[in-house]
Amino acid sequence: MRLACSRTACLASIPWMPSRASIVFRAHISPSHAAGLFQTQSLQLGASCSFSEHRTYAAVDATSGKITEPGRGPASAGPPPVVESIDYNPPRGTRDFPPDEMRLRSWLFQQFREVSRLFAFEEVDFPVLESEALFVRKAGEEITQQLYNFEDKGGRRVSLRPELTPSLARLVLQKGKALPLPVKWFAIGQCWRYERMTRGRRREHYQWNMDILGIPGVEAEVELLSAIVTFFKKVGISSNDVGIKISSRKVLQSLLERFEVPPGSFAAVCVVVDKVEKITRKEVEEELLKLGVLKDAADGILNALSVRSLTELEGLLGTESEAVRDLKQLFSLANGYGFADWLVFDASVVRGLAYYTGTVFEGFDKEGKLRAICGGGRYDRLLSTFGGEDTPACGFGFGDAVIVELLKDRGLLPSLQQEIDFIVFPLEEVLRPQAGLVTTKLREAGCVVELILESKKMKWAFKHAERLQAKQLVLLGSSEWERGCVRVKNLSSREEEDISIDELITKANTSKE
Ligand code: HAM
Repeated sequence: MRLACSRTACLASIPWMPSRASIVFRAHISPSHAAGLFQTQSLQLGASCSFSEHRTYAAVDATSGKITEPGRGPASAGPPPVVESIDYNPPRGTRDFPPDEMRLRSWLFQQFREVSRLFAFEEVDFPVLESEALFVRKAGEEITQQLYNFEDKGGRRVSLRPELTPSLARLVLQKGKALPLPVKWFAIGQCWRYERMTRGRRREHYQWNMDILGIPGVEAEVELLSAIVTFFKKVGISSNDVGIKISSRKVLQSLLERFEVPPGSFAAVCVVVDKVEKITRKEVEEELLKLGVLKDAADGILNALSVRSLTELEGLLGTESEAVRDLKQLFSLANGYGFADWLVFDASVVRGLAYYTGTVFEGFDKEGKLRAICGGGRYDRLLSTFGGEDTPACGFGFGDAVIVELLKDRGLLPSLQQEIDFIVFPLEEVLRPQAGLVTTKLREAGCVVELILESKKMKWAFKHAERLQAKQLVLLGSSEWERGCVRVKNLSSREEEDISIDELITKANTSKE
């Protein structure tokens, strides 16, 4: 036996209803449907237009679908019996977004969207659930070991996405030649990784991604870096707080060629080298040896990671090096754009994802307290690993968690309040349809209106208005209404006046122009 609930709300104000009409809706139950979609609802409509919502619970046999106990509304029979007590916290590593958190999230996403719009990117999205094959790579990356993967009811291997890039590649491949290049897309989506939790790292996070496909030169990377810097500035963060470390996987590639490491090991070597700050140098060396990198080569590679200037890099790789040429051009363009002070060359930045082939970068807080704020790079060969043609591509992912920690630390979190223009309060229940009319007109004028939905005392209405920090309170009383007026109280100046509905709406319209 299981319990099922259905919920129906009905709206007031049906103009053609005779006054004081009483209607009873009865739902018909077919056994195949029964599944709890059972309800009996009655609605009283009258001059005062009462508004009601009923929930009715019925006991349904899970196999036959037959109702074994009639539904009982909470109004008549108290709350439904507790079926099973549950943990009120969300699963470990995940978050609820109650209104204050949600306001912050919406604000953050709005900044992401606004920056993307300024850079003429178009928004895209993909399913949170993808085929597991999209994320399975053999280079030993942490991300593939953290998949939330399972078999669905149809026996397909699926996974919650740990990142957005493979989905973007899939969509580009699906569009094929019909998609004109370059593509400039951004996305904001929830990603799932079974992570060990630290400050700013959780099992579910939202990522803002911007990607450019079809541009082989570092001009694309510079646009992306400029977008990141634009975002930081927009939320009040300066280059004193944050920097972006830049390198290129071509640095490692030329070292591997020099030490005759087989090209097939490139991605796996990058993934191991990326661990250099998380595990000991000895452990990194051991992992490199397992990949067939000889001791001398491993030493050479790890020593090269300490290089911190392009001149030094040039000394190591030679003037003809593609990596040096790209990086020099990138810094020179960033200088032209005016954000070179945000960038630092750091050969130790390799990034833990297998698919990067060129420039790699990571945003970091200069106090060194937080994990990477954002990260990205060039991945010119990802599409061919999915059976498509090699296509120049680069992009970044920017999480919602670390940036919020940083804004908190710097006292830069915005104070966000729900903004309410009017509270409409009928002083008598008989005026509820009229209150509905005033509310509708104000909303049509673009105002945010909270209509008091229950019969309440004036004192309560004032307290409520104060708590919501509403701007104005509109009181509907019979004597004012008979004169075609309402009483409007300005809640900051405390001034009040009786004005006609037309005047109120005209004022509301002008305030929103
Ligand atoms: P990623 O470095 O794995 O790159 O993630 C990018 C950003 O997402 C991180 O810098 C961080 O802000 C955030 N992030 C990642 N994991 C977590 C987590 N467990 N909790 C909170 N935030 C997290 C990628 O995902 C690439 N796909 C980015 C990319 C796009 N590359 C090219 N295009």
